[in-house]
Amino acid sequence: MLLGGLAYKITQYATTPAPLKIPTTPAPTTRGGVVLRFLREIVLFETLFKANKWIWLFGWVFHFALLLVLLRHLRYFIQPVWGWVAFIQPYGYYAGFAMVAGLLGLWARRFLVPRMRYISAPSDHLMLALLVAIGVSGLAMSFIGRTDIVAVKAFFLGLMYFDWQPLPADPVLLIHLGLVLILMVIFPFSKLLHAPGMFFSPSRYQVDNPRERRHLAPWAAKLETDAEGGGR
Ligand code: HEM
Repeated sequence: MLLGGLAYKITQYATTPAPLKIPTTPAPTTRGGVVLRFLREIVLFETLFKANKWIWLFGWVFHFALLLVLLRHLRYFIQPVWGWVAFIQPYGYYAGFAMVAGLLGLWARRFLVPRMRYISAPSDHLMLALLVAIGVSGLAMSFIGRTDIVAVKAFFLGLMYFDWQPLPADPVLLIHLGLVLILMVIFPFSKLLHAPGMFFSPSRYQVDNPRERRHLAPWAAKLETDAEGGGR
């Protein structure tokens, strides 16, 4: 569902017409400039920084801790473990705390800021709760009751090579994995899709050059040639 849903939604985004020239100005006037702005946006969350420092702080901490945590998880899916994956292990270990702290900050603002509380739907709370629960169950395995990660790895490698292996029946592990399954199912149909969505946002990817180059969507160009050809 994750892969199929993502492919479906991304195709939908990619085929949605963008008839207007609507870059958010001030916008770069060259393609290179747009690429650079994207990089700043993805790595630094630039526009969020300009908009709201608290959301930026918690959002940035959460996303980068999540990245580290996920990269650290790669070791369950590859054998032998790549050098850089081994290198980041200790950082990913503590990033779990930063991830949950960032999430709790983002969640707190939905209760404490009246404007945010007003626009928060149950799904906003549930998604935060889901991510917090995944983080907390992960941390519980890392810091409280360890699970047999060698067996976990054997299970996941077995899944990938069609060689079924037993999964440890540890309740915390099963909760962690069950919640991850729920996350994978809702991801393509929720606002969590903002990650790929960013790349399909005309106000972000368009170059600010309407005077130098006329913006003409392919389907609009076709209408024009049809009109000329048919003498309408
Ligand atoms: C199939 C996918 C996943 C598997 C097999 C898995 C498995 C595990 C295991 C076994 C641990 C304990 C590590 C240890 O004892 O050192 C752990 C920790 C953790 N997991 Fe997952 N997990 C998965 C997906 C995720 C996802 C998608 C997230 C975040 C959204 C996540 C967040 C965490 C966190 C925050 C920790 C604690 C910090 C750490 O040890 O890295 N996990 N996970």
